[in-house]
Amino acid sequence: MTITTLAEYQRDWDAAKRDPDAFWLGVAKDRITWANPPGKGLEGSFATIADAPLTWFADGSLNASVQCLDRHLDTRGDQTAILWEGDEPSDIRRITYRELHREVCRAASALAGLGVKQGDRVILYMGMVPEAAIAMLALARLGAVHSVVFGGFSASAIAGRVRDCGAKLIITQDAGLRGGKKIPLKATVDEACRETAVDKIVVLRRTGDPVGWQEGRDLWWHDVVATGHDTHPPAIVPAEHPLFILYTSGSTGQPKGVLHTTGGYMAYAAYTHATSFGLREGDIYACVADVGWITGHSYIVYGPLANGTTTVMFESVPTYPDAGRYWDMVERHRITIFYGAPTALRVLANAGDAFVKKYDRSSLRVLGTVGEPINPTTWNWYHDVVGDKHCAVVDTWWQTETGGHAINPIAGVTPTKPGSATKPLPGIVPALRDSDNKVIEGPGEGRLFLEQPWPGQARTVWNDHERFVKTYFAEVPGVYFTGDGCRRDEDGDYWITGRVDDVVNVSGHRMGTAEFESAITSVVGVTEAAVVGYPHDTKGQGIYAFVVAAPSVDRAALDAACRKMIGAHARIDKLQLVPGLPKTRSGKVMRRILRKIAEAGDKDPGDLGDLTTLADPGVVEQIKQGAAKAS
Ligand code: WT7
Repeated sequence: MTITTLAEYQRDWDAAKRDPDAFWLGVAKDRITWANPPGKGLEGSFATIADAPLTWFADGSLNASVQCLDRHLDTRGDQTAILWEGDEPSDIRRITYRELHREVCRAASALAGLGVKQGDRVILYMGMVPEAAIAMLALARLGAVHSVVFGGFSASAIAGRVRDCGAKLIITQDAGLRGGKKIPLKATVDEACRETAVDKIVVLRRTGDPVGWQEGRDLWWHDVVATGHDTHPPAIVPAEHPLFILYTSGSTGQPKGVLHTTGGYMAYAAYTHATSFGLREGDIYACVADVGWITGHSYIVYGPLANGTTTVMFESVPTYPDAGRYWDMVERHRITIFYGAPTALRVLANAGDAFVKKYDRSSLRVLGTVGEPINPTTWNWYHDVVGDKHCAVVDTWWQTETGGHAINPIAGVTPTKPGSATKPLPGIVPALRDSDNKVIEGPGEGRLFLEQPWPGQARTVWNDHERFVKTYFAEVPGVYFTGDGCRRDEDGDYWITGRVDDVVNVSGHRMGTAEFESAITSVVGVTEAAVVGYPHDTKGQGIYAFVVAAPSVDRAALDAACRKMIGAHARIDKLQLVPGLPKTRSGKVMRRILRKIAEAGDKDPGDLGDLTTLADPGVVEQIKQGAAKAS
């Protein structure tokens, strides 16, 4: 089941809409090796989601690691599964499917020896090393639930996640290595554990740097896996058994533990990976995301390995040793499908074409992008310069919650337009709604909803189904709200315009303004704060903080608080000290006004709309005056 023509795309899209059960049961049988094949498709619905999470393939059973490993052993045991390139370009590891199977079994049996059982939650705080994928697959083999925490998050962020999911074990490294710089991963975990203790910390030696050590709690990864066996039986779990939790930022409060389950997620990751990119036998596929995000889960680890692909894992950054690193990799590994983020492409485009043209890119066939809207200039540069005008550009819109691709062209099939994510994949039924939640037919712009369930979608928020329902299904009962704004043109192509809620996308990193506000207001002397996103040339969006504070409060203290409570990637790009925030008489901050002022920068924001509901309209004038001085 592949899609090679527009007619086939239309056929599959129609089929998935008309009879989702038949369509997805077909995909699930085609893509997944089940221990017990499912007879059931979807049970439950968006309309009844408040009563219970919906389920897919509920009577089927399987193991996720078997999809990625065991079933490939006979056919592609000696093929490279993971092609790892370390921080230094010369640091390369090729791990075949047979070797990966053995490594995963060793890790699984060793972790079982440490007491990890089916259903237990384990946190991974690692860089881009093969052992991160090995640990994920090993935990999946045991039926344990991994929660990967991006290596930029702070100790408090780790502690919050440990508490929320009740993890007893953390897997980390001595330090991470990115662009020649060390990232002290173990030290950060140690700090987190002073707040919230765990029983065991397993530490991979990556850099050889000295680390703090607590006897009885801390163990070396190499000592642990040495106790493992070369084979370990997979735990056969029901399709709806949790596979992983991934914390992601939303409009309010602390990050939510988005839960993905086994059968539907695996089927969807494998199906979309093969379909969107037009996957072929022999492809060398490189997704340069981080396993700390959903892209790394679905399109470095689970999707590609389920499809028996050679998947590249990249430890470094796009500008190390220089801005040619990606294309150098393309030449050396003969990469055929390259999948990256607009924010990196913008930086590389600014560095000049010479860094691209120096390398042979003739192996490339498909160029993917993900994480944020790609501006047409960058799209064109990707297509014309990187792809020499002969590659398909696949701009994929999706989310942690969708589990996999949702709106994107199918490589070489769907006609593309620079900046448009084009058409929904089979099973994805988008709807645009206006501010009264009325459905917009035909061309128009509104908020993006998805009307019909698909197997890869998140089932719930860990331990808080009510929050799941409130976050995604309260705006319009019975319909999934994405949080994004979107335009549909006269050809029915979709153009994502960015978040319409209080989520900001900085360099493809999803952050909640509420998290910034709670970090900033934790600083002594700060009275209140409102944070909004604003357009930023390379980062896509930047963080703009309006802060009411005593004169004694300095910038460094605010930055430190964000770093401490969120992580190293959480920076205030623009700070404006203000005498007060624009509030309604009932005390609600009118972010709409602040967003406009932030967007305008040192220009006049123009008409700010109706200000009559403000408690103190004068404050807006003062904020406007001060905006030019924000820095
Ligand atoms: C948000 C989801 C999807 C995996 C990485 C991010 C934005 C994502 C695109 C795109 C425009 C995009 C949306 C979405 N986004 N891809 N191709 N065009 N916007 O996952 O951290 O869950 O963030 O990223 O705003 O809602 P995430």
